[in-house]
Amino acid sequence: MRIDSATRDQLQEWEKELSTHYQRICQHELSLDITRGKPAADQLHQSDGLDGILNGDYRAADGTDTRNYGGRNGGGLEGLLCARELGADILQVPTEEVLAGGNSSLTLMYHAVLTGYLFGFAGNKPWRELQSPKFLCPVPGYDRHFSICEQLGIGMVNVPMTETGPDMDAIEEEIKKDQGIIGIWCVPKFSNPTGVTYSQETVVRLAQLAQIANPGFRIFWDNAYAIHDLEQQINLPGIRAASLENDTADSVLQFASTSKVTHAGAGVAFVSASTANLASLKKQMHAMTIGPDKVNQLRHSRFFAEFTLLKKHMQKHAQILKPKFACVLSQLESAFGDSDLGEWEKPKGGYFVSFNTRPGCATAVVQLAADAGVKLTPAGATFPYGKDPEDRNIRIAPSFPPLEELDTAMSVFILCVKLASVRKKLEIL
Ligand SMILES: Cc1ncc(COP(=O)(O)O)c(C=O)c1O
Repeated sequence: MRIDSATRDQLQEWEKELSTHYQRICQHELSLDITRGKPAADQLHQSDGLDGILNGDYRAADGTDTRNYGGRNGGGLEGLLCARELGADILQVPTEEVLAGGNSSLTLMYHAVLTGYLFGFAGNKPWRELQSPKFLCPVPGYDRHFSICEQLGIGMVNVPMTETGPDMDAIEEEIKKDQGIIGIWCVPKFSNPTGVTYSQETVVRLAQLAQIANPGFRIFWDNAYAIHDLEQQINLPGIRAASLENDTADSVLQFASTSKVTHAGAGVAFVSASTANLASLKKQMHAMTIGPDKVNQLRHSRFFAEFTLLKKHMQKHAQILKPKFACVLSQLESAFGDSDLGEWEKPKGGYFVSFNTRPGCATAVVQLAADAGVKLTPAGATFPYGKDPEDRNIRIAPSFPPLEELDTAMSVFILCVKLASVRKKLEIL
């Protein structure tokens, strides 16, 4: 199907055929959901061994009684040593630079933004004292990052994503002209939603930004998909090494969690940063909590007693996820491979497939799919303030539904893309 070279008659004919097909589908009263990137039940099942793993032995290897407040070797705000070691393995950083927190990395990111906003990091001015503090937001990106900024009244500047990460020329230009830019959101490996992994050049240029930015500038390096490879392991160049080389280590805050490793929302989250940044974070957290859930941290440390066990565990996830990604990608390829109806990425890991419709069609596609019983992530959700300037991007999350349901949902999605595209073209002809 090539819309741009079709005549009006051809388009009208397609519209009629597709509408008839669509009406038929609507009568099936489907109820399918490919919205949020949640692990499927069989993925969660891989971690059921966490339950009961302590078997009455609540002492960590360093002697900490995890049932109580505090602990040896830190074990207070920093979390258990063995949990910090797990975080250090995931993020590939030294254990001393890791704080193991509660169940959610998003919460840690929220607290880190609050710390910068209210108190400032490492002796820098709090962002709230700046005239117009803003974050750079590579788009499409993760909606909940944008919600944090929106809630705190921090401005957001869109930066396009490329195949090697965010557009670094655009980023450097923005920072040079606006010292109000105090942060950037990054999902550097299997980016949400594009699946892109940042290149060496991108990582180095990001690490150099602090040399031209406001001294309070921080990179929020949300490595949520650090170990979520589908096939062979993809290597993400290290931001820590690059920042040390450029004498900008204070500009980086790294995050990860086991949410999509063990039980989602019931895992352990990590933040890694320089000593000065960790001190700022702990100062703020000190008033808020005595410490994280060490019992759950110990469960996770026992479950992944060695990093190789974690890697094997992630291979099991990959085996479950691979056919689902293959289903989405093969349906898209056979429907749109030779068309001008859309573009998409072929991710090698992570949780999403990012699809761009023709301009001005995404909202209509999501609405048509909803009316046919297939729930998609709202159009615009991958952009700050929910506004996709071109109304093109739709995030597909293949992980949660069973394969058969996903297959049906994708057929409906494809039909809706075709119908919305033809209707849009007829409208503007
Ligand atoms: C990029 C990214 N960061 C963070 C999260 C949430 O992680 P957590 O459950 O640790 O808060 C998600 C979940 O979808 C995500 O996609």
